Amino acid sequence: MTLQLSKLAGMIGDSPTLKINAQARALKAAGQPLIHLGGGEPTYPAPQAAVEAIEKKAASRKIKYSPSSGTPELKQAVLAYTLKHYGRQYETADVIVCAGAKQALFNFLLAAVDPGDEVIFPAPYWVSYPDMVRLAGGTPVIVRPQQGIMVSAQEIKAAVSPKTKAIIINSPCNPSGQIFPEDFVREIVEFAERENIFLVMDDIYHQLVFDGARTPNPCAYAKKGENLVIINGVSKLYGLTGLRIGWAVCANQDLIKAMGKMQAQSTSCNSDLSEAAAAAALTGPQDCVRDMCAVLQENRNALLAELAAIPHVTVEKPQGTFYSFADFSYYNADSQTLAQYLLEKALVAVVPGKAFGLDGHLRISFCADRASVVEGVRRIRWALDKTAPNEIKIGDKLVTRN
Ligand SMILES: Cc1ncc(COP(=O)(O)O)c(C=O)c1O
Repeated sequence: MTLQLSKLAGMIGDSPTLKINAQARALKAAGQPLIHLGGGEPTYPAPQAAVEAIEKKAASRKIKYSPSSGTPELKQAVLAYTLKHYGRQYETADVIVCAGAKQALFNFLLAAVDPGDEVIFPAPYWVSYPDMVRLAGGTPVIVRPQQGIMVSAQEIKAAVSPKTKAIIINSPCNPSGQIFPEDFVREIVEFAERENIFLVMDDIYHQLVFDGARTPNPCAYAKKGENLVIINGVSKLYGLTGLRIGWAVCANQDLIKAMGKMQAQSTSCNSDLSEAAAAAALTGPQDCVRDMCAVLQENRNALLAELAAIPHVTVEKPQGTFYSFADFSYYNADSQTLAQYLLEKALVAVVPGKAFGLDGHLRISFCADRASVVEGVRRIRWALDKTAPNEIKIGDKLVTRN
């Protein structure tokens, strides 16, 4: 008899980004001059306050289980952050701190979704949403824009059925860098509250915005807001991806309690060290966020200038995040094949749009250093431009296109 894995395990496919990432890692390890523009991880250093908090906590030699749903200090810091950025005073019992925004989302889905329930989100979407919804027993309902890369509120509303349990909106959006406009947010917040549908705002990038843009505040349009779940975390904001700290805030203590039960029976609690560091980052000096946005904005501008030099490629200017989502369908409508070609020929890793639910596009990150961003897009141009010389030198390597 063979050992059988669960049906659940069989339901979840391999991550579409996994293969490209594994190949990229292997090329790098083999000493190839690979440029990785596929990442979702800021390279900037951890804020000093976070580092000092870890050192202090470690020096106390007390690294123990912490309260399951987060330490009081970190919850206070989250409440202050939420008041500052959303203008709403939540209570301690409205907050749960989790191992990243991802666990916060997952806890929400486990606590809210029954088998057969539908969870709506627009494409392009963060790669994890469909499988997370499936793991929770729900059915992902993907809304693709009729035009461009952003759905309208009307398109979202048209996807609602009696089975709709939740809508997830990620703004600014991974992978497009687009911010959903004020009218969209108002309409969806008011609609979801009226219809008793959970509205999850995945706000993990809400402060990573450019050109003075602001991410519209959902709390401005919520009345009681018992259906409004705001997800955030320190991964993108401070580049603290390794801490694994995120949170959910909602004026629905039954929901937060239920999410807490899911957490208590899975990870038990968050890392004590990480919680101390996250609280310090939130309450410490915030100029790092402004500085980082300035660097990312310059990177974005450099990326757009290089992309503009590639004929037939179009891109909506990212208003936030550190991703661009460019339409390369002129060259190949199959983004997976195109990404593979670019990896092999130009030694540049990017993520196929297919992984985000919109084929024909490539997600090109600009959180790497600027020189890599510029060089990476130049290599892509070379690989696609049949009129360019057939051979170029990449590092010490002579690369041939055909
Ligand atoms: C849209 C979105 N939500 C959530 C997450 C997860 O963030 P965390 O590292 O806090 O789990 C990511 C990470 O890439 C993301 O892009």
